[in-house]
Amino acid sequence: MSIINRISEFHEQMTEWRHDIHAHPEIAFEEQRTSDIVARELGQFGIEVHRGLAKTGVVGVLKNGDGPSIGLRADMDALPIHEANDFDHRSKHDGKMHACGHDGHTSMLLGAAKYLAETRQFKGTINFIFQPAEEGEGGARVMIEEGLFDKFPCQSVYGVHNMPGKDTGTFHMRTGALMAAYDTFEITVTGRGSHAAMPHHSIDPVVVASKIVGGLQSITSRNLNPLESAVISVTQIHGGDTNNVIPNRVWMEGTTRSFKPEVRDWLAPSMQRVVDGIAQAYGASAEFDYLRRYPSTINHSAETGIAAKIAAEVAGEARVDINTAPVMGAEDFSFMLEKVPGCYLFIGNGAGEGVCMVHNPSYDFNDEILPIGATYFSRLVETVLAA
Ligand code: NI
Repeated sequence: MSIINRISEFHEQMTEWRHDIHAHPEIAFEEQRTSDIVARELGQFGIEVHRGLAKTGVVGVLKNGDGPSIGLRADMDALPIHEANDFDHRSKHDGKMHACGHDGHTSMLLGAAKYLAETRQFKGTINFIFQPAEEGEGGARVMIEEGLFDKFPCQSVYGVHNMPGKDTGTFHMRTGALMAAYDTFEITVTGRGSHAAMPHHSIDPVVVASKIVGGLQSITSRNLNPLESAVISVTQIHGGDTNNVIPNRVWMEGTTRSFKPEVRDWLAPSMQRVVDGIAQAYGASAEFDYLRRYPSTINHSAETGIAAKIAAEVAGEARVDINTAPVMGAEDFSFMLEKVPGCYLFIGNGAGEGVCMVHNPSYDFNDEILPIGATYFSRLVETVLAA
């Protein structure tokens, strides 16, 4: 591991930021305290601070002569999870928790900002992008809509995420789709209620809804080329109030995941056909709403090549996987990659016995990877913006 010496010197400070942010988690668009810390620290490093994009977003601009511009991104938001840990830095806010390590991503990027502002071994402009609301609310999309890349142009953009289950400090990336597109849907089946003992007076929406759940599975298993990937999961079904009444209506919702834009585009009309066809076959009616949330996170080839080279310098070639398997989770950095070429990668958060996945009430970010991520970001800048 080649950690920049100056960065290891403030490993403790990065850990303090991380623990402080962890103890005070804030969820989507409420990251006021966190963004105050980020703005305060960036200001102290002598970095120009811009606030207000997507409510709590912060952009730090560090310019050193003329040269290309680069965007480095961290997410700041926590999750509505009740923390099960009992260490000193556990959440002080009931029902909110940094269960995805965004506390670590924020501290890591602050560490890189501190080092880069001190040393300035680059020519060009760095935009340190601290975004709100990565978890489901698309803070990155909102920042872009509010002018992120018009106000702070970037020729390339880079992001990282910790990954439990991978050895501490290893790097994992791939060109093309690394994470899935994430969409949601709602289905309301309307039939005709009746006494449960006289079903012939009803059009039973419970039966129709059950057929629809089964029918939707045949889209991915029978209509999609088996060499492609997509998931359709119905995750909630609500209907009826008691055991002897057939209700009028059943409501369902769920999510889809896919990698290729053409597969994603194909899902909604395929689902609509199955929903309408089954409802009609049973004399019921159905309403189908499909909401496009996050596109898939698609890494660009040149930038992924640069990221792989830097990762190998930092962690050693044997600890870099340049062809890691994609994952079905989603990430709103995808919106940035739609606008600006770049690379998003995973840094191993630790593997082995007792490893805890993100979004789990017992999860914690591994402080050992703070200087690794900060070194990666810093070396990236010193390479892409070589003086
Ligand atoms: Ni996350």
